[in-house]
Amino acid sequence: MSNTTYDLIVIGSGPGGYVAAIRAAQLGLKTACVEMRATLGGTCLNVGCIPSKALLTSSEKFAEAQHSLAMHGVKVGSVSLDLPAMMAHKDKVVKENTAGIEFLFRKNKVDWLKGKGRVVTAGQVAVEGASGTQTYATKNILIATGSDSMPLPGVDVDEKRIVTSTGALALAEVPKSMVVIGGGVIGLELGSVWQRLGTKVTVVEFLDRILPGMDGELSKTAQKILAKQGMEFKLSTKVTSAKNDGKKVALTLEPAAGGAVEKMDADVVLLSIGRRPYTEGLGLDTAGVALDQRKRIVVDHHFQTNVKGIYAIGDVIAGPMLAHKAEDEGVVCVEMMAGQSGHINYDAIPGVVYTWPEIASVGKTEEQLKTEGVAFKVGKFPFSANGRARAMGDTEGFAKILADAKTDRLLGAHIIGPDAGTMIAELALAVEFGASSEDVARTCHAHPTLNEVVKEAALAVDGRPLHV
Ligand code: FAD
Ligand code: NAI
Repeated sequence: MSNTTYDLIVIGSGPGGYVAAIRAAQLGLKTACVEMRATLGGTCLNVGCIPSKALLTSSEKFAEAQHSLAMHGVKVGSVSLDLPAMMAHKDKVVKENTAGIEFLFRKNKVDWLKGKGRVVTAGQVAVEGASGTQTYATKNILIATGSDSMPLPGVDVDEKRIVTSTGALALAEVPKSMVVIGGGVIGLELGSVWQRLGTKVTVVEFLDRILPGMDGELSKTAQKILAKQGMEFKLSTKVTSAKNDGKKVALTLEPAAGGAVEKMDADVVLLSIGRRPYTEGLGLDTAGVALDQRKRIVVDHHFQTNVKGIYAIGDVIAGPMLAHKAEDEGVVCVEMMAGQSGHINYDAIPGVVYTWPEIASVGKTEEQLKTEGVAFKVGKFPFSANGRARAMGDTEGFAKILADAKTDRLLGAHIIGPDAGTMIAELALAVEFGASSEDVARTCHAHPTLNEVVKEAALAVDGRPLHV
């Protein structure tokens, strides 16, 4: 047993864990964070948000140079790809970000306990590191071990030809063809990266629509636009097997409801059918920590598990698997641990798909409101009627605002269009503040900006947009 006793040991240094550790240290708690990877930052910084956004930005620049710069009168001649340089940029961005967390830990006096953490019991964490196992005493334990990609029987991942997002972020060459299993966020983002770089991408989706959690109109529009870019979609279809013969992957597909088998082959298969909480080897059984049916750790409003002094946040508990959700939970959890109060409004967590155009949502979808029997009004405005979007040559998409029919309170907002991910922020703030659509419509929006689309959509809720 180590001589050091902590107030808090966080297990996992993803956006949930590292942010919680920094906030706890700010609040005066003696804090350590256990991480078994060679670098801090979790899935998000190492193999998730950050490297995927680096490749999305770089590949979008490549596509722009090929397809859009000429319209602006910029001639670049023939455009060619330097994939190793693109990957090197991504790796540099990851390195800077993960090293940044190490710096922040040092600055805030958070100890990094290197190795695999295990809960021995409430108040004790064992860390299996390079030089053996060390046990630490701590008043509180926060589990922030995140998630891992979901496997599919019959599809054996080798991270070379049959890859998860991790392999898809590091392919050594541009495949001629790629089958993406799962038309969710990862499939569309990483499918977009390789499609822009020259791969023929086919998305196989089990359901009859892509992006199942999002507003239906957004999903339909996204599919139309991505199909125009060259992505192919096979909806209501399941992959029953994928076999790598060393040169190609042979796939068998079937209609989701059963029926005739179809064969396909591809250079690379990306498996992206969701992620599952990661609790392997954590000792939760012996510590008596309860899981739900989907193996997520069950917590109360203080993020405390059924065992006093053991807490959990982020992808390992219920809710959207998003970095900013994990971060906010981490902050609120440790603030409450330190005696403060806090809350998270799960209706005001934005979700963004970083394809081009981007797809962004906050609050309820039309489908959810209909199911819940809530009467609502809809205001919509297209980017094609926005001056800035026309100047950019990026006029696809629209913003849609859903407001309560009686009170006009903003219930949901959905945008597909250029920079939708940045634009959604004002609407997340509006939902958080309980604003009405009129509040948004009467807020002065700078001209000419893309955000005027939001203002016009808010005006459209009351049937009075100005520019259509
Ligand atoms: P994680 O980030 O998964 O971190 C958990 C950490 O715990 C890991 O480093 C792991 O090594 C460590 N760990 C696990 N068990 C132990 C143990 N026993 N001992 C020590 N360490 C342990 N979300 C967004 O909001 N925006 C995006 O753009 C986005 N893009 C994504 C792109 C991809 C390709 C992927 C895969 C995910 C993306 N996500 C995105 C989701 C986001 O990465 C997760 O929601 C987020 O990382 C969850 O944070 P977390 O702290 O809960 O866990
Ligand atoms: P997802 O849940 O977004 O999408 C999975 C898709 O696969 C769904 O459409 C589902 O219907 C489909 N599917 C499930 N089983 C299938 C099968 N057998 N055959 C064909 N299709 C099947 O999961 P994804 O894309 O793997 O991402 C995992 C998580 O990572 C998400 O929860 C997401 O929140 C997070 N993430 C967030 C990003 C962002 O915020 N921009 C980017 C990437 C990931």
